[in-house]
Amino acid sequence: MKQYIKHHPWHIIEEGFDAHLNKISESLCSIGNGRMGQRANFEEHYSGETLQGTYLAGVYYPDKTRVGWWKNGYPEYFAKVLNAPNIIGIDVTINGTRLDLAHCNIKSFNRTLDMKAGLLNRNFVATMPNGVTVTVSAQRLFSVVDDECAAIEYSLQTDVDATVSVKPFVDGDVSNADSNYAEKFWNILQTVSDIKSSYVLAETKKTQFRVCAAFKSSVKVDTQNIEAQHYSNATSAGCTYAFALAAHTTAVIYKFCTVTTSQNYNADALDGKAIVNLQRIVEKGYVKMVDEQKQAWFKKWTTSDIVIEGDVAAQQGIRFNIFQLNQTYTGLDERLNIGPKGFTGEKYGGSTYWDTEAYCIPFYLSTANQAVSRNLLVYRYKHLQKAIENAAKLGFKNGAALYPMVTMNGEECHNEWEITFEEIHRNGAIAYAIYNYINYTSDIDYLAEYGLEVLIGIARFWAQRVNYSTHKKKYVMLGVTGPNEYENNVNNNWYTNYLASWCLKYTIEAIDYVKSNHKKAFKQIVATTTFDAKVETTLWKDIIKKMYYPVDKELNIILQQEGYLDKEQILVADLPAADRPLNQKWSWDRILRSCFIKQADVLQGIYFFQDEFDNDTITRNFDFYEKRTVHESSLSPCVHSILACRIGRIDKAYEMYLRTARLDLDDYNNDTEDGCHTTSMAGTWMSIVEGFGGMLVRNNVLHFNPLIPAQWKSLSFKITYRRALLQVTIEGKKVTIENQSGQTIQLSVNSTLHQLKAMETYSNN
Ligand code: BGC
Repeated sequence: MKQYIKHHPWHIIEEGFDAHLNKISESLCSIGNGRMGQRANFEEHYSGETLQGTYLAGVYYPDKTRVGWWKNGYPEYFAKVLNAPNIIGIDVTINGTRLDLAHCNIKSFNRTLDMKAGLLNRNFVATMPNGVTVTVSAQRLFSVVDDECAAIEYSLQTDVDATVSVKPFVDGDVSNADSNYAEKFWNILQTVSDIKSSYVLAETKKTQFRVCAAFKSSVKVDTQNIEAQHYSNATSAGCTYAFALAAHTTAVIYKFCTVTTSQNYNADALDGKAIVNLQRIVEKGYVKMVDEQKQAWFKKWTTSDIVIEGDVAAQQGIRFNIFQLNQTYTGLDERLNIGPKGFTGEKYGGSTYWDTEAYCIPFYLSTANQAVSRNLLVYRYKHLQKAIENAAKLGFKNGAALYPMVTMNGEECHNEWEITFEEIHRNGAIAYAIYNYINYTSDIDYLAEYGLEVLIGIARFWAQRVNYSTHKKKYVMLGVTGPNEYENNVNNNWYTNYLASWCLKYTIEAIDYVKSNHKKAFKQIVATTTFDAKVETTLWKDIIKKMYYPVDKELNIILQQEGYLDKEQILVADLPAADRPLNQKWSWDRILRSCFIKQADVLQGIYFFQDEFDNDTITRNFDFYEKRTVHESSLSPCVHSILACRIGRIDKAYEMYLRTARLDLDDYNNDTEDGCHTTSMAGTWMSIVEGFGGMLVRNNVLHFNPLIPAQWKSLSFKITYRRALLQVTIEGKKVTIENQSGQTIQLSVNSTLHQLKAMETYSNN
C-alpha cells in the first residue's frame, strides 16, 4: 500500500517526484475519451522507469500464444491491447542538453489529474546537468467532444538566456512490454511532415488495422511565432523549432493531435481525414477545446456524480472510479467494450471479460442512456456464433455456446486450461446481465429480439456440462474453476452450479414469455437454433430439480466447493503482513492448497441472488468467507461491501468500500503500475448505490434501504431509472429523493411504498 496521492475531492495530485512511483502515477493520471487514451507519460524525453502507453479502443494484435505445454482447444493467439504510435512527444533541448527529468535536480514537481474538467496538468522546476533551471507547465486533454482528437499546451521558461530547440513529434517505433516474442506489432507505411501536418501512417501486423497518427504544432515566444523545420525518418515525423530564449521569458508550444483508424474510414483516406481533423481543431484553438472539454465533463458529472460529505478520501475514491469508467467507455460505438485496464495499461489484453456483465452493466444502466447497456448486451449477441464455435471446439454440440474468458472479437484468446476451459461461470454472467438489464429497464422485448437466442445457447452448454451422478443421484459439475481463481479444477463449485441452474430456469421463463408474446419471433428463433422445446426443456427441468449444491450442515453454510473444509482452516487475520499479497509472495502450489480465497465466490452468488437468501444465511456465510478472503482480485471487496451493508455491518462495509474505491489510488495490491483496475471501478459504484444506498429493483419497484457510515455527513447520488433522473440524498436516517424528471416513479424506501410524481421530492422526515 502506498499513500502518496494527496486527498482532494476533484483532483488526483502527486506532489514532489519519486521516480519509483512514476509508473503508478502514470496509471492513475491516465486520460481518455472512449475512443483512445493514454497513460500520463511525460511529453519530453524520460529515461527513467516508465511504461509508455497510448491505446486505441478496439485496435489489437493477435500475439501468438506462448505456453509451456500446449493443450488441444487452446486458442492460437492472445489479443493484445496495443501500444499505438506516440502522439504526445515533445523533445526539448536547452543549450545543447536534452531535457530529461531522470537526470535533473528536481526542485518542485506536481502532476494533477483534474477529474471535473478532464484535464491532465503537470508543472515542474528542475535544474539540468548543464546548470540551466527550467520551469515547465504542461496541460493536455483527450477531447470527449471530438474523440479522434487531443491537444497539448506546453510552456517553458529558463532562468538564464538560452538556446532552445523544441521538437514535437509523432513516433511509430513503439512496442508492447507484454509482447510474447519481443516482436514489434506495427509496420510503418509512411512518415510525412509538412506545413499541413506531421504524421505516421502505420499498420498492425496480422490484423491490418491501419492508423494515421498526426499532429500540427506551433511555438510562440512572447508574440513571436517561431518557424518550424519539418523532418521525417523511418519511424517518426515532426518539426524542430530552434530559438533563443531570454531568461524568464515564456515559450508556448501547442500541439494539436489526431488519430484516424481504418475501423472508421477507408484505409486510403486516413491521412486526408486526419488533416481535416487537424484543420478543425487548430481553427477552434486550444482555449475553446478546453472549454468544450469542461462542458462535456460537466454534463457527464450531472448524471453520474456521487457526493460524499465529510470524508475526502472516500469522495476522491468514488469520483476517481466514475471518471475512469466514463473516459473508458462511452457507449457511442457498439463494437467496443470495457477492458479490465481501460486505457491505463497493457495487462490482461482483450477488451471483454465477464467483468462487463457482472460489474460494469449496473453502472452504465444507472448513469447512461439505456441504449448503452443494451449495446453491451448486443455485443455478446453478435458474438454468439463464435461462442458456439468455441464450445464446439471443446466437444460441445447442438448449438451449445461457451463465451470466451477474454476476447476482442468473440474468439477465445485466453490460454491457461484451468481458466480457459474451466472458469465457465462467465457464461452465466452473460445470462445474468440480460436478466439484470430487463429487470432494471423493463425492456422485456429485448428477449425476442436478441436475448433468447443467447440464453438458449448458454442453457444448452450447462445442460451438456453437468453429468448425472448415480452415486449422488444428483447432477454434478466436475473440473471447474469458480470466480476464486485460487482454487482450480474443483468439483461442484457452488457458485457455478447455482448459476447454471438459474440460467436454465431463466431461459425456460424467457421461452414462455417470447412464445406467448412474440409468436413470430419465437418461430424464427426455434428455426434458427433448431430448438426442440419439449426434449430440451424436459432435461433442463430435471437438472434444475436435481442439481447438487455442496453445503456443510454442521456450520450451516454453503460450501464453496466439495472438500473445501478439508483444507487447513487459517484466517486472513493470522497471515503475516509480509506474506501479502499472496500471489506475489507464495508459490502457486501453496496458494492452491491453502483455504485463502482470491475473490468473492459463494458471496458473489449470494450477491446476485440476494432475494433468495435470508439475512441469517447471508450473515453466516459472510462471516465464514470474509475471514478467508484476501481480496487479491479487484472485483472482490465491492461485493463484500454490499453484503456487509445488507447485514448491517457498516464498519466492515466502509473498510471494504475504501479498499475498492482507493484500490489503485493507494496501490493496495501493489500492481497499479501495470494500470488501473477499470472494470472493478464499476464495483465501487455498486458498493455506494447498491450497498450504502441499498438500491434494488424488485417486482418493478425501485427499493432503497440506505445505511451510511458514521464518518459521512451525507451521501448523495444520481441515477437514471426507467428514463427518470433521481437524486438520492442520505443524511443519517434521513432520505430525500428528488424526481428530476417528467414521470411518476414507484418507490420503496425502507420497505414503505411511495409514488413519486414528476418533479416531486420525497423525504422521510
Ligand atoms: C479476476 C477475474 C477477472 C480478471 C479481469 C482476474 O484477476 O480473477 O475474475 O475477470 O481479473 O479483471
